[in-house]
Formats: sequence, C-alpha cells, structure tokens
Amino acid sequence: MTRLVAVSNRVAQPTIESKSAGGLSIGVLSALKEHGGVWFGWNGKTTDGEPGDPKIEQVGNITYATIDLNAVSFDKFYNGFSNTSLWPICHYLLGFFRFDRREYEEYRHVNTLFANKLLPLLQPDDIIWVHDYHLIPLASELRLAGIKNPIGFFLHVPFPDIEVLRVLPVYTQLLRNLCAYDVIGFHTPGDLAAFNEAINQKEIGGIHKADRRNNSPDRHFRADVFPIGIDVDNCYKLASTARQSDNTKRMIHHLHDRNLIIGVDRLDYSKGLEERFRAIERLLQNYPENRGQVSYIQIAPKTRAGIRAYDDIRHTLEQATGEINGEFADIDWIPIRYLNRAFDRPTLMEFFHEASVGLVTPIRDGMNLVAKEFVASQDPDNPGVLVLSLLAGAASELTDAVLVNPYDIDGVANGIQVALTMPLNERKERHASMIEILRRNDITTWRTHFVDALMQARENLK
Ligand code: G6P
Repeated sequence: MTRLVAVSNRVAQPTIESKSAGGLSIGVLSALKEHGGVWFGWNGKTTDGEPGDPKIEQVGNITYATIDLNAVSFDKFYNGFSNTSLWPICHYLLGFFRFDRREYEEYRHVNTLFANKLLPLLQPDDIIWVHDYHLIPLASELRLAGIKNPIGFFLHVPFPDIEVLRVLPVYTQLLRNLCAYDVIGFHTPGDLAAFNEAINQKEIGGIHKADRRNNSPDRHFRADVFPIGIDVDNCYKLASTARQSDNTKRMIHHLHDRNLIIGVDRLDYSKGLEERFRAIERLLQNYPENRGQVSYIQIAPKTRAGIRAYDDIRHTLEQATGEINGEFADIDWIPIRYLNRAFDRPTLMEFFHEASVGLVTPIRDGMNLVAKEFVASQDPDNPGVLVLSLLAGAASELTDAVLVNPYDIDGVANGIQVALTMPLNERKERHASMIEILRRNDITTWRTHFVDALMQARENLK
C-alpha cells in the first residue's frame, strides 16, 4: 500500500492548537487524510543541544514525526537564509534581501539533518512530497543517501524571474537541487515559465526540456502548474453560520449597519498593508461620502517575530493607523480597526460573509487563499466584492475580482469605491464565475493532481 510522506518545515500537529492554519497545512492535511501516511518536520521547539530522534504520534491514519532544532542553527536556517534571503527574493523585494554564507551553510545543514532523521521512517513504496522554500535541497540529500522513491516538491511562494534570482549568490546550486525532484509544482503559469527560463541559463549548464534528467540517467523531472485551492463547500458552510458566534455578533453590533471592508493577512511586509492603509485614507479623501459609512477591519496576526523587518512593519502600521484614525474618526466612528491577533477559521469565514468588500492587496504573493476563501464565503444572492492585487497568484484565476495594482494608492482607492458601489447584478455575475473557477481548481484537484504526478513518476521508473 502506497503511503504519502509529507515533509514541511512546520507541521500542524493536532495536539498543538493553532488558529491560523495556512494553505500549506490545510492542503497537506487533506492529502494525508485521504492516503494515510507520515507528516515529518520541525516541532516548533528549539533546544541548546543536538536534535534527538523524531517524536512519533499516531492520529487516525496519520503518523506525525517531528524533531526539534538547535536554537542557533534554527536562527540561521529559518530567520536567516529562509526568511531573509529566500523569502524576499521569491517576493521580488530586494530591499529586504540579505545574504550571509554562514546562514546558507546552516540551511544546507538543516536539510541534511532532515534527510538523516527521515531516512529510518521511509518504506520502499512511499511517495514523498516536500513543501516549500525551506527544504529545496532535501531531495538531493535523500538521493545521496540512496533513496529511490519518487520525490515531489511544491513551492508555495512565487518563483522569481531569473534577473531577480541571480541576485542570490547560490542560486545555481539551488536550481540544481530542485532538478533532483521527480515532480516540481508551482502555483501559476508565470512561476513555471520563470523556472523554465532559469534552468536554461548557461550558468547552470542549461537543463534543456528534452534532457531533464535529475541525479541519475534514468530519471526525468516534470515541472508543472498545480494551483492550490480550497474546499469551497466547507468555507460556505462555516460562513453561513454567521451571526451565531459571539465574535461575529459583537462585530456586527459595532458595525451599526455600515459597510464592512475586511483584510486578513499575516503581519508580513509582502502583504502590502502600509499601501492598503494609505488606500483607505485616500478613499476617505477622494470619496468623502464614505466617511462614517464604512468600517475597515484589518486582522494581522504577528509572525516571524525574530526578524527585524517584521518588527518594523508593525511599527509602521501602528503609526499609519493612528494617523488615519486621528484625521478622520468621529466621536461615534473610527475608520480602521487594526487587530494584531489571530481568529479561528470559522470566525474568519463568518466575518467574510458579512463583508461588503474583501481587500487582498499583497505586493507579491504565491497564491493567497484568503482571496479564495473570501469569495467562497459570500452569499450568492448578495455577494461582497473582492478587490485583489494583480501581483497575487490568485489573480491569474480570479479575473472577475476588481483587480488593482497594490502600489497605486489612488488605483486601490478607486477599486474599493467601485466595489462599494457595484450593482447587485454585476456582483452576482462576478461571484458566480469566480465560484465556478474555485470549484474547478479546488483543494481536491490540487492534491490529486500532484499525487497522481508522483505515482506516474514511479510508473515511469519501472
Ligand atoms: C506562509 C507562506 C508559506 C510558508 C509559511 C511559513 O504561509 O505562504 O509559503 O511556508 O508562511 O510560515 P512560518 O510561520 O513557518 O514562517
């Protein structure tokens, strides 16, 4: 019986409650529930010493195998190379990019460690699915250790254009590491095109389409687009209990029938939050009829607290909120309610259901599932409108959203005004066409297509 072995830096362990389940954890969990198997990764804890053997926990048909990481090593691997080199590069944000060779060495060391700890858990029939930018060299490490199983990699962030990628001093090594996978998945055709262009560079010897061999002569890799999706019916089911939870009742009570504009993002500089706050300010300046009539709630739980750029964005937003509220608030109304905390998924879906406008305006994003969840949470007979960044992966599918360039503050303000005043018929039509796309590319399609590609890779090897 084929088992699926999923590997990601963070593991959504059932015994550790987390309010903000991201796309990666929802997707991995749904694949594992169907196939049964192992979820291997870091347990979220750091120690002073060397990591021990994986801690094994069985829940239903899923085995959770997690390790802790040495604190110094983790800092260089996660805060350092993963999130201060790779993350900004993948999001085209070179102003945030730093490179330190020691951090890169530690990144490779952690990947070797992951491979060594995973090895004893593997069985000959397993298919292995590795997730995200923290673990690019893992397949190469497993191959060095003699593992022949099919190994896939899914990149949850954008794949940058070659001219941006070239800024990373070690990019050729990482490209070669990617080519050691049997299946490489991206969110959008643009990401795939950027990858194809990158591997054809002279610097890495040009891995041409016709000769996409990974580490051994009998293996070829397949790179393709697998846009991650959501469980549309589940979102709607959660959303349609709106007005039942205490949080939602309180939120509605304080809305006083005003139009709700909502944003939900991790507190990350790639989410375009400062520009978004300024767009709200511009909306109130350019369209004063909205003063006292709209309420913008921005939910932004803190992440990656050890990294300076993440502390900086927090201070910037606190200041912007103070300035904008100070300028426009009245004794019975404030324009921005900014919350640095997480809410559970059912509550978020309920909030979306109540909103007139969903603001999803990252300055770069792999996919952005909030955009999809917002659409799926709407009442089809009276749907709210999604204002979506052209620079989010979701924009390549949700072309019936109001698409905006997140850097264009006036453009975003106009987009919000268009959304607020859109006639019911147009809202219904746009919503219906987006729902159709969400159903076509849902979470089941994503995981079955990827797993099928891995199965096919195994067939090709026989
Ligand atoms: C976001 C990104 C994922 C990434 C994850 C890591 O959700 O979209 O691509 O894997 O962050 O989160 P962490 O909290 O572990 O840094």
